[in-house]
Amino acid sequence: MEKLRSSFTGKLGFVLAAAGSAVGLGNIWRFPYLAAQYGGGMFLLVYIILAVTFGFALMIAEIAIGRKTGLSAIGAYKKLDKRFSFLGYIAALVPIIILPYYSVIGGWVTKYLFVYLTGNSSAAVSDNYFTGFIGSVSEPIIWFLAFVGLTFLIVLFGVEKGIEKVSKIIMPVLVVLSVAIAIYGLTIPGAFEGFLYYITPNIEHFSAKTVVAAMGQLFYSMSLAMGIMITYGSYMKKDVNVESSVHQIEIFDTGIAFFAGLMIIPAVFAFSGGDQAALNAGPGLMFVTLPKVFASMPAGNIIGGLFFLLVLFAALTSSISLAETVISIFRDKLGWNRIFTCIVVLIGCIVLGLPSSLGNGIWSNIKIIGMDFLTFFDFISNNVIMPIVALLTSILVGYIIKPKVIIEEIESSSKFKGKKLFSVVIKYIAPVCLFIILITSVLSAFGLMKI
Ligand code: PHE
Repeated sequence: MEKLRSSFTGKLGFVLAAAGSAVGLGNIWRFPYLAAQYGGGMFLLVYIILAVTFGFALMIAEIAIGRKTGLSAIGAYKKLDKRFSFLGYIAALVPIIILPYYSVIGGWVTKYLFVYLTGNSSAAVSDNYFTGFIGSVSEPIIWFLAFVGLTFLIVLFGVEKGIEKVSKIIMPVLVVLSVAIAIYGLTIPGAFEGFLYYITPNIEHFSAKTVVAAMGQLFYSMSLAMGIMITYGSYMKKDVNVESSVHQIEIFDTGIAFFAGLMIIPAVFAFSGGDQAALNAGPGLMFVTLPKVFASMPAGNIIGGLFFLLVLFAALTSSISLAETVISIFRDKLGWNRIFTCIVVLIGCIVLGLPSSLGNGIWSNIKIIGMDFLTFFDFISNNVIMPIVALLTSILVGYIIKPKVIIEEIESSSKFKGKKLFSVVIKYIAPVCLFIILITSVLSAFGLMKI
């Protein structure tokens, strides 16, 4: 007999749980370095436009699919249309790919927290501290293992609920602290130029790359196109207003990303003396820039330590959500027990994470289509598989089951103000744009097109 699915208590419970999954390293680590690299204000503008159109439509669709079917991705797509069963499996691949490398970055955050706690933060200010750290063999692996271990301990002992409770307090503190650090950062001489770069869209900075990167980031940051929101929807009560929940999650998620950018990008300008090359630092940007900001602040050691602690929490709530998803995929399909599944997934995560860690050091000469392991896993999930899942989901909803089914599901609990926008995006705009984005990013990765 199927067990009754437990539900989130009310709207707040749903929004907080979904925001816990959505807000993580994507907002604080990934968004700022992409925004710095792909055009500052232009990237921000493109991202916001995509969030209120694609992000909105896709999140509505996924949550409604989950709530309507009461199933997670694999079962849900199958129930809607047998021919789309495979889509659930493709979506399931995404968290399997992301979790290992997410944990490598989570390890970097844990290491920086340790550095601040042990009062060694002055070393972290020097330019090659970060590259020296990620380039070494055992150190990043040890921190990666610590982060993975923490994630799985929490999952294994079933104390996620406790973590969720704590994170309800942590998240607002993180917001306040980020805003305070961002405001402080703006007072550093030279930062204002960076502020302008970050908030003024300059058409010269627009390129296909901006759109491709922003779209991938949107999926990643909002935990879309990987079945996660379907699962969350399946736990949502029938009387909760989906549309306003989606707005709240989007505002929260985008708001945190915005302030993370504000915290980091102006500071990059201030400390590099306006050297544009510093904007292309990539995944290391946060780790290189923030220690400098903290070092220049009064009580910077304490603030830095607190900051990395809060980021670690945000990263953990996301990695737990990723791990839970992967575990339930294996359990549902193979009928394994929980502990055994946890162990298998843990081992799998470690095996897949090691190359991502080593790829920054002794394995840096091994390249897959010109990318190190971490970049490759990030690319293949965000810029290939997720657009495929989103494209096929929009075709399924737009043309097979029809937007009406989703609209009815939303309207069963509340008015659906954005239904016109939803239908137009899901039927016409999403399929065409996603197709173009997908082709562009794949061709450019193989060097067949320059964008
Ligand atoms: N959205 C999370 C972030 O921004 C990452 C994540 C992706 C979490 C998928 C869970 C599932 O960090």
